[in-house]
Amino acid sequence: MKQRTFTILKPDTVARRNVGGVIARLEQEGFEILGAKRLHLTTEQAQAFYAVHAERPFYRSLVEFMTSGPVWVMALERDNAVEHLRKVMGATDSQKAEKGTIRAQFGTNIERNAIHGSDSPENAKIEVGFFFSGSELV
Ligand code: RTP
Ligand code: MG
Repeated sequence: MKQRTFTILKPDTVARRNVGGVIARLEQEGFEILGAKRLHLTTEQAQAFYAVHAERPFYRSLVEFMTSGPVWVMALERDNAVEHLRKVMGATDSQKAEKGTIRAQFGTNIERNAIHGSDSPENAKIEVGFFFSGSELV
């Protein structure tokens, strides 16, 4: 069944001119891009988006990284979109990510890992709603 998920092409992907490469891979994987925009996240936005990690030792650094330059936020649609995107992204640590995954190809390390993907259908709904209104998704 068709399902939506949410992705962020992180600041490292934009800075390294890998946006096109990542989008090409997502389209090859059958994702339809329902909405996309380039944003420079504010500290408040990045803190709120990753609030679940507020107590983690890497939180401060993560927020600094995510606000270090522009990103692309996107709503994607596909069968089994949430699970499939996580599989195609690969492990959080780019250096440990399985060969052929987006993070293995485009990421640098555990923090600068090219892409975010929602980790559950519930969070996908919340995250899409964080950045898009219904009329922006076609
Ligand atoms: P994401 O939420 O961005 O899709 O990544 P994820 O589920 O694979 O990983 P998560 O545990 O949710 O961590 C969120 C982001 O925080 C950075 N991170 N840094 N230095 C570290 O140990 C560390 N661990 C995680 C990464 O940018 C990770 O994607
Ligand atoms: Mg996560």
